[in-house]
Amino acid sequence: MIIRKAEIIMTAVKKEQYPATVVPEIAFAGKSNVGKSSMINALLNRRSLARTSSQPGKTQTINFYNINDMLNFVDLPGYGYAKVSKTEKSKWGAMIDTYLHNRNQLREVFLLVDIRHEPSQNDIQMYNWIKECGYTGYVIASKADKLSRSQQIKSIAVIKKTLEIKENGLVYPFSATSKAGVEEIWNLFENVLGI
Ligand code: GTP
Ligand code: MG
Repeated sequence: MIIRKAEIIMTAVKKEQYPATVVPEIAFAGKSNVGKSSMINALLNRRSLARTSSQPGKTQTINFYNINDMLNFVDLPGYGYAKVSKTEKSKWGAMIDTYLHNRNQLREVFLLVDIRHEPSQNDIQMYNWIKECGYTGYVIASKADKLSRSQQIKSIAVIKKTLEIKENGLVYPFSATSKAGVEEIWNLFENVLGI
């Protein structure tokens, strides 16, 4: 995909704040600090369109990005952020739940997990939630630059086992730092969207 235009269109907390766009949407879920916002920047070839931080909990709203007036990327707030109170956690759950259930143009939700770690209980829950909502269950294994090629293969096997993924073609290694996987992920999106 040639990126002619990439801009943030809305920062939403409530349903009423979702943009009134009709283009298809792709959303990114995953624990705080896993690299969701960094991946958006890498895929769009923009350095700091999506705000990133080494401190977990940077993205706490649902952020909508317009790409080429053709599709939206949706950066979801991360989970598993230790400092968050119970009330905030339930607000987070309600915010994601509302989005997943009220957005007709949402085509697919991609779960990001850190390639170095076995998926956590939260990751497993999020993955099952995504599938229960009727999405395919694609996983992007982030920060692939931190592992050698052979370690990546081993880690992907662990991720598949933990998330009980039996099919091939659902887990994709990716690095926002080295840009490894950019092509593959764009091909995947184009397949998913049928464009
Ligand atoms: P929240 O907004 O808190 O949910 O986090 P996020 O998932 O959006 O993570 P973010 O993109 O802000 O990245 C978190 C940290 O991981 C930052 O310090 C990034 O520089 C780093 N990071 C992200 N992607 C990569 C990657 O591919 N490789 C490496 N080595 N570091 C990465
Ligand atoms: Mg973020």
